[in-house]
Amino acid sequence: MTREALKRVEPGLPASWYRDPEHYERELQTFWYARWIAAAREEEIPQPGDWRTVRIGTQSIVLLRDESARLRAFHNTCRHRGSVLCTGDKGQLPRMRIVCPYHAWTYDLAGRLVATPRRMETPDFRMEDYRLYEVAVDTWGGFVFLNLARDPAPLADTLADRPARYGNYSFEHLRIGQRIVADVKANWKLIAENFSECFHCPPVHPELCAVVTAYQEAGAWGLRGRPEARPQYKPAAATLTLDGSARLPPFQGLNEDEKRTLYIADMVLPALFLNIHPDYVNSHLVFPTGPQSVRIVYDWLFEPRHLPLPEPDLQHYVALWEITNRQDARNCEWQQQGLQSREFAHGVYVPQEFDAHRFAQWVRAGLEANGSRASRSGRARRAGPRPRR
Ligand code: FES
Ligand SMILES: [Fe+2]
Repeated sequence: MTREALKRVEPGLPASWYRDPEHYERELQTFWYARWIAAAREEEIPQPGDWRTVRIGTQSIVLLRDESARLRAFHNTCRHRGSVLCTGDKGQLPRMRIVCPYHAWTYDLAGRLVATPRRMETPDFRMEDYRLYEVAVDTWGGFVFLNLARDPAPLADTLADRPARYGNYSFEHLRIGQRIVADVKANWKLIAENFSECFHCPPVHPELCAVVTAYQEAGAWGLRGRPEARPQYKPAAATLTLDGSARLPPFQGLNEDEKRTLYIADMVLPALFLNIHPDYVNSHLVFPTGPQSVRIVYDWLFEPRHLPLPEPDLQHYVALWEITNRQDARNCEWQQQGLQSREFAHGVYVPQEFDAHRFAQWVRAGLEANGSRASRSGRARRAGPRPRR
């Protein structure tokens, strides 16, 4: 993506879009139930029969590994009368079967109904009519992506050139060294906008600005068409830690350029944000939990040969983003509180918030496309043949 400052002040999204339950529902339909959502790391369900649940908006999904070690996902809903199937966060399925906790209808790991104990027989009952509702699953870089659309486009379309661009990083081989889960009282779009701009860095992130010295320029570094006086990073910094020092070598496959690139920020919208460094990655999985709240799962990923890291080394790597992520979450909550004002119609993006503006345009375009699709299919339905009585 190009880095280019906006030429003028641009209007932000309507404030009501960050609060209104009906609008939130539209966004769930448009973005969260129709796109590829990074939901877990593959290592969380390593063995056949392992499962965990994932909540995206109001939808609970069971993600599991079947007998052939293939990942599968199903709506966490029994076909009998709709009970959830898996009641916890994660576990191991006994005998490779999913048994509903209500009347014990039993499914295999391909989602086929295989037993309905004690049901009185009728001639019309066909087991094959009651398969679990399957959800599309794919993986990239060790991240498990789900797509709740019926017939989704391939994940590759969403990833674009990332598999090639990050090929040397081998994200798929990395493992979780630390996970922190935070429930944040802010709309999901505030979290994405916050990740997209560094205008807030000097007042909010003194620790980050001490290492990424370019951020002392509040997102304007390299955008003003003149050589920068400040270096991009603190002199002699080798990675993003509080003092810039590294205790691990760079990832094994990196070339010299990549070893010198201390920080790449990337977003696979709407759910996955990546802070990429030469020797570790800090990933964020974002899950909307309501119109004004999200759950964020922060992982620190390392090469497995270094794990488990001695506690002081782990803290050395975790500290900077733990502090910075907390600062961001706190500021997003304050922003969520402030935009309750009846006077506040929308914010504005200043030139160096070009990426937050790009995100807002992505949101507008997605809603518009979905709106016109919905109205087209509404028209088609209205114009269609009348049902016979
Ligand atoms: S609701 Fe699942 S068996 Fe009845
Ligand atoms: Fe920030």
